[in-house]
Amino acid sequence: MENLKEQTHSTVAQVIKERRSIKKFKTDPVPTDLIVELLNTAVWAPNHGLREPWRFILLKDEGKKVLADAIMKKNEELRKKWEYVMNVPSHLVVVMKEDPRQKQWEENFAAVCTMVQNLQLAAWEQGVGMIWKTNPLIHDPKFREKIGVEQGEKIIGFIHIGYPEAIPEKKDRTPVEELLTIIDTER
Ligand SMILES: Cc1cc2nc3c(=O)[nH]c(=O)nc-3n(C[C@H](O)[C@H](O)[C@H](O)COP(=O)(O)O)c2cc1C
Repeated sequence: MENLKEQTHSTVAQVIKERRSIKKFKTDPVPTDLIVELLNTAVWAPNHGLREPWRFILLKDEGKKVLADAIMKKNEELRKKWEYVMNVPSHLVVVMKEDPRQKQWEENFAAVCTMVQNLQLAAWEQGVGMIWKTNPLIHDPKFREKIGVEQGEKIIGFIHIGYPEAIPEKKDRTPVEELLTIIDTER
């Protein structure tokens, strides 16, 4: 029974290690219902005080132009980037509620980051590829206004979403044995 379970289900550890940030997507759309389902899984992330400090803006179809055009405006030579943005099926803008108190701000930021990784893992398990991108538009007042990001909200990133056209090679991580300090005597 135990073996059968292993054969038919990925373990969390497998999904964590096998996930890759996807750079080439198929143009097939990812159903909005599926994205919402993945987000409903992702929001089970730990978040202190259950503040749930997140909301989302999904750019799809012609809605992607708001992002593609904003990138183009920065530099007319970025036509290739415009095309890339328009060819990715959807872009999810992840927005964090900012808290004026530093500790709570940091907790909120950490919670949103764990939620985004939940999202990437849940998506990977279902064959949906993602890459988490940041770019200067995060702080661009005009762009923020265009998509309705209010004062007191921070854009955490743009999650590009689509079915993978190619899966990049893994990038090895430093073994934790090299990074771990163990303190087991009184100081
Ligand atoms: C906060 C954050 C911002 C990122 N921004 C970008 C980005 O702007 N452009 C990009 O190509 N990748 C970006 N990435 C993805 C990383 O480059 C990627 O995770 C890293 O290369 C490791 O690859 P892997 O996710 O396939 O293991 C970002 C990741 C994080 C967590």
